[in-house]
Amino acid sequence: MVIGKTLLTEEQIRARIKELADRINADYKGKEILAVGILKGAFMFYSDLVRQIRVPLIVDFIVSSSYEDTTTTGKVNIHIDTRIPVTGRDVIIIEDIIDTGISLSYIKEKLLDKSPNSLKICVLLDKKERRLVEVDVEYAGFEIPDEFIVGYGTDYNDNFRNLPYVATLKHSG
Ligand code: IMP
Ligand code: MG
Repeated sequence: MVIGKTLLTEEQIRARIKELADRINADYKGKEILAVGILKGAFMFYSDLVRQIRVPLIVDFIVSSSYEDTTTTGKVNIHIDTRIPVTGRDVIIIEDIIDTGISLSYIKEKLLDKSPNSLKICVLLDKKERRLVEVDVEYAGFEIPDEFIVGYGTDYNDNFRNLPYVATLKHSG
């Protein structure tokens, strides 16, 4: 598989992240955010987003996986869980992409079991037409079509995560 056409440029991503951060800054004024990034996919979006957030913020991560090649296994694994206690905190889950919704609905339920004060979801990319499980997404960067994409944290078998933009994949040769 090789990189296909660019779907979102660095400039588009940067501008949209600023808009999301402005909304988060307004919504969480006077509060402290526990920003839970979902690794590995969210690492680039997470670090660019939190740099634009101006309210007090605590950093934590969940390492999870559900994908093999370009299809979801439907089974979500949590390899490493949060370290900071979630109880009573204002949590934002930060994820690269929501597709079927299976991963985020599972992770959301797991975090809700720990009684946060509030819990919202922020994703850069939303493949809305692919949703199988209903999940509220309070902050979504871009709605994208049902195409497999890579870059800006997202991967194909762990490749292409370092691309600074979002692109489609195509078969080589
Ligand atoms: P969901 O559980 O189907 O919503 O899938 C969410 C996860 O699938 C994301 O965290 C990504 O890791 C992965 N994913 C979904 N669509 C794509 C894609 O187009 N490219 C790369 N990864 C994807
Ligand atoms: Mg992911």
